[in-house]
Amino acid sequence: MIRIGNLALDRPLLLAPMEDVSDQPFRLMCRRLGADVVYTEFISSEGLIRDARVCLEKLKIADGERPTGIQIYGSEVDVMVEAARIAEEAGPELIDINIGCPVKSVACAHGAGAGLLQDPEKMMAIVSGIVNAVDLPVTVKTRLGWDHQSISIVENARRFEDAGVEALSIHGRTRSQQRKGEADWDWIRRTKEAVSIPVFGNGDVKEPDDAIRRFHEYGVDGVMIGRGAIADPWIFQRAKAYRETGVVPEITPAERMSACLEHLVMSVEFKGLPKGVIEFRKHWKGYLRELPDASSARADLMQFTEPEPVVERVLTFAEELGVEGAVTVPDELAAPVAA
Ligand SMILES: Cc1cc2nc3c(=O)[nH]c(=O)nc-3n(C[C@H](O)[C@H](O)[C@H](O)COP(=O)(O)O)c2cc1C
Repeated sequence: MIRIGNLALDRPLLLAPMEDVSDQPFRLMCRRLGADVVYTEFISSEGLIRDARVCLEKLKIADGERPTGIQIYGSEVDVMVEAARIAEEAGPELIDINIGCPVKSVACAHGAGAGLLQDPEKMMAIVSGIVNAVDLPVTVKTRLGWDHQSISIVENARRFEDAGVEALSIHGRTRSQQRKGEADWDWIRRTKEAVSIPVFGNGDVKEPDDAIRRFHEYGVDGVMIGRGAIADPWIFQRAKAYRETGVVPEITPAERMSACLEHLVMSVEFKGLPKGVIEFRKHWKGYLRELPDASSARADLMQFTEPEPVVERVLTFAEELGVEGAVTVPDELAAPVAA
């Protein structure tokens, strides 16, 4: 069992922060499907202090998703500290600092995200400034270093710990690797051995049994999953079942279809129309994964902008697979009964 502030977590599986993916509806789904902690996508500190509507929208947390970490990014100490205070007011369980984003416009042009790895003094001023400014536990998500010639994760982890950071998520790549190559979990293990705060390993966990193996093989306190959860939102639940029973359960076609309709309702409630349907498109592949002949249903579903044809197409697909009766259509999407 590990403790972060008031949270007590037993070998947690965490949903990674992912821009345009880890929104409120997806976080809610991942929690329902077994994630122990979820993180928001990164939110611009500049946007937060300017009251930018899109940034404030990203702060919204639903009770069903907790515990939630709000992740912020930026390169100016005062701005980051002020943004952390604003994020704290939104009532998350954790404040997370992004020290890993490799994207040029963030890391190079503005020295934010992984760019902070190039300026350790400023990086630590931001981390200490935030730890001192907020009452909530502060976590950091970072990479191994800027490039292979400058791997700094062990040293940085010790600095974060000394500054009062309460947990660390490590994506096992350098900034220059972006998302290429393989995540190097040996560095994650070495870092875990060097600090006392909880360390969450991240990078390339795609299968439920692999998520569990990483605990044993690398000694981490938690495993954070990003792309693996887009490809398979059940990965958390399936990993836990594997931990209990040694068997990875399959998800039935009816469960898949019921869950995607449930997620769609939340997406529409949170984003309105047509945005809630359009932005849901990125999830069809994961939900319909491994279903026979899903490609034509998926191609149709990618076209719709309203929920009604989506429900109709999902039900037709269910009929084609012979599972129609078993799909639960949420009340919000059920056809109105004729008067
Ligand atoms: C679409 C996408 C968006 C991402 N956005 C963020 C982000 O906002 N903040 C962050 O710290 N990392 C972000 N990442 C990186 C992930 O959190 C994670 O570190 C990385 O994908 C490696 O883990 P994985 O192999 O489990 O996906 C993003 C990754 C993807 C694929």
